[in-house]
Amino acid sequence: MTIPVLTIDGPSGAGKGTISRLVAKKLGWNYLDSGSIYRSLAIALSQQGVDLADEMAIVKVAETMELAFECGDELRVNLDGVDITSQLGLESTGNTASIIAVLSQVRAALLAKQQSFRQGVGLVADGRDMGTVVFPDAPYKIFLTASAEERARRRYKQLKEKGIYANLSRLTIDIEERDRRDMERATAPLAMAENALYIDSSNMSIAAVIEEALNLIR
Ligand code: C5P
Repeated sequence: MTIPVLTIDGPSGAGKGTISRLVAKKLGWNYLDSGSIYRSLAIALSQQGVDLADEMAIVKVAETMELAFECGDELRVNLDGVDITSQLGLESTGNTASIIAVLSQVRAALLAKQQSFRQGVGLVADGRDMGTVVFPDAPYKIFLTASAEERARRRYKQLKEKGIYANLSRLTIDIEERDRRDMERATAPLAMAENALYIDSSNMSIAAVIEEALNLIR
């Protein structure tokens, strides 16, 4: 029997991470935060001083970096044996991740890593192309979005809670820029899978979104 997957795709700051983690916990399923893989690669590139215009050099790092995930209350990531969790959430990391995410060979190099999370009784996978490219055969798919203003507000709150300096109007501009890059790229652009359930969470509580996700599976 194939392992069921719930894919949750959508733009930055739509709440995919929070919802996915909580739904995975409720179901006892594995959790894949695919953005953290792109983010980890961004950190590895910066550590190694790799030129972001050199796609083959980036692919090489993507193929050789060793990532270990620990999914407790917070996702912790080790890159080549070193804990990089504190750098993962930085806006600069997210921006570099979205720049290298347009490269088709880089995406191909990260595909198997993402698919290897399909283990145990089920998987909740969050990202941009989970339902369209990485797990096209997933029986359950959600496209989760919210207005750009609301997403910037949530990101602002999240960063402040972590003690990271943030500026709301700058965040809104960055989010819109990242949306545009994610939607306009040629390979695996952010798009709703044909058979996905569309949820606009702008005016919804976390509990209400989780309920919709669980209803889809029941
Ligand atoms: O979701 P998160 O903000 O952590 O993702 C960081 C960046 O990684 C996104 O802006 C996007 O460009 C890229 N990404 C992607 N495909 C995914 C997950 C993330 O292109 N499945």
